[in-house]
Amino acid sequence: MTDETGTGQCPLSREEPRVAHSRTLRFWLDPANIAVRLGQAGPVARTKAGPAVAFQVNDPSLLRKVGGGEDTFQFWTADPSLRDFTGNGFPGAEGQAHRDRRALMKPALAAPRLTALGRSVRDSADGLLAGLPADRPVDIPYEMSRLVAGLVIESVLNSDISPDTLAELARARSVLSAGVFWKYALAPWPWVPVPRRRAFRRALATLNEAAREVYARHRPDADGSDVVSLLKRASDDRPDVALHDLRALLFAGIEATSSTLAWACYELGRHPGHQAAVRAEADAVLATDAPADAIRPGLMPRSAGFVREVTRLHGIPFLVRRARHATYVGDQPVPAGALVTLPLGALRRDPARYARPEEFDPLRWSPEARPPLSPAALLPYGLGPRYCPGAAASDILVPVALASLVRSRTLRTASTGRTVRVSLDLTPMPKGLTMVAAPREPHPPAPGRPRHEQAAPARRH
Ligand code: HEM
Repeated sequence: MTDETGTGQCPLSREEPRVAHSRTLRFWLDPANIAVRLGQAGPVARTKAGPAVAFQVNDPSLLRKVGGGEDTFQFWTADPSLRDFTGNGFPGAEGQAHRDRRALMKPALAAPRLTALGRSVRDSADGLLAGLPADRPVDIPYEMSRLVAGLVIESVLNSDISPDTLAELARARSVLSAGVFWKYALAPWPWVPVPRRRAFRRALATLNEAAREVYARHRPDADGSDVVSLLKRASDDRPDVALHDLRALLFAGIEATSSTLAWACYELGRHPGHQAAVRAEADAVLATDAPADAIRPGLMPRSAGFVREVTRLHGIPFLVRRARHATYVGDQPVPAGALVTLPLGALRRDPARYARPEEFDPLRWSPEARPPLSPAALLPYGLGPRYCPGAAASDILVPVALASLVRSRTLRTASTGRTVRVSLDLTPMPKGLTMVAAPREPHPPAPGRPRHEQAAPARRH
């Protein structure tokens, strides 16, 4: 179904890297473990991952109840073990305080405002991609973190940052992400040392420094309704207050978005046919001087489908909550303090929902595919009061960044012989994924040029 090479075979690269999942992640992703046996596992399964007992919620309506019921199930960022990380930012807040902060930011992060950013996202992406080395294999998780951090800062936070701080921030991402993961996971056993504590503190200092720079260099929108303007006004221009929320947006904005793009690179390398198809669409949509909203995901079904399939196979594998007090999930008694997990990764590989669930097939999301699949069923942005506030932002950032990337570069897997490992971060990354991002030949058409004039170099390369 996905063959676009005309060879009749799946166009996998010969240098395709092997991916290794840790035992813990295999547990969460392996359909043989959960999804295939959903019927037998029952609506709630008592599971063991490492030293922790967790109650895994397989039933969609119970899943919504747990995700939406913060009176009973505490969100992980509100856990005291993460206090030094969340500070006074809204992810660490609960109840009314949390709802108020979210409501404050809502208009600035709403779809109509962000969808109109297509052209500026393209221009920012072109600028940032100019710094992607072309003469040597690149570390994809780092480069995608740098690209995404720049895009979030320029397009969502209306600011900029020095190239050095940007590079440090991109390097700090994995240390912060893994640090938060382990702090939370080991919280019930405070005597067990959290790995790399000092590195975590240094990375947190880098994130703080980046947030301060973004705050200082912020350029308000003409109507003063961009998110940083709203945060500044609500805190009477006291940086110490607004900075905690700004830092949360910055870190969370980089985290899952860069993971999605890094896995997209991995799949581009494995599927040159799909890379060509996304590029053809990118040429048609991105090479425009038309009004800002002429670049939007609705006009980019190939890129959007590619991103959905990346999310299906490589997205956040599970969400986690902790029971505040003894309770029941369905008929299952759950003790106070127990972990309750929502296994999105396994559900996205459920053969009852997806034909050939292990196969990467972006065309299953095409508007013509029958039966049509619901992107919302992937729950890419979670659910309930913690539904991702950056959803509209990433709906425009990710497809446009992907399209800009393949418009200017050809992604190939570098033959390092290394196994790509799935990192145990908040959002799993393809750790060790090294690729060549060779300049595209011939150069892509510049915005505003008719498509047959393809020989001219792109505007910003
Ligand atoms: C592909 C991109 C993204 C994905 C897949 C994603 C996914 C998610 C998910 C699943 C959650 C809920 C986690 C849970 O319930 O445990 C979440 C929360 C959050 N996301 Fe995103 N996100 C993305 C991009 C962004 C962006 C671009 C921003 C900011 C500009 C952002 C900011 C946040 C914040 C601050 C939270 C915590 C919300 C709260 O505590 O109320 N995310 N995200």
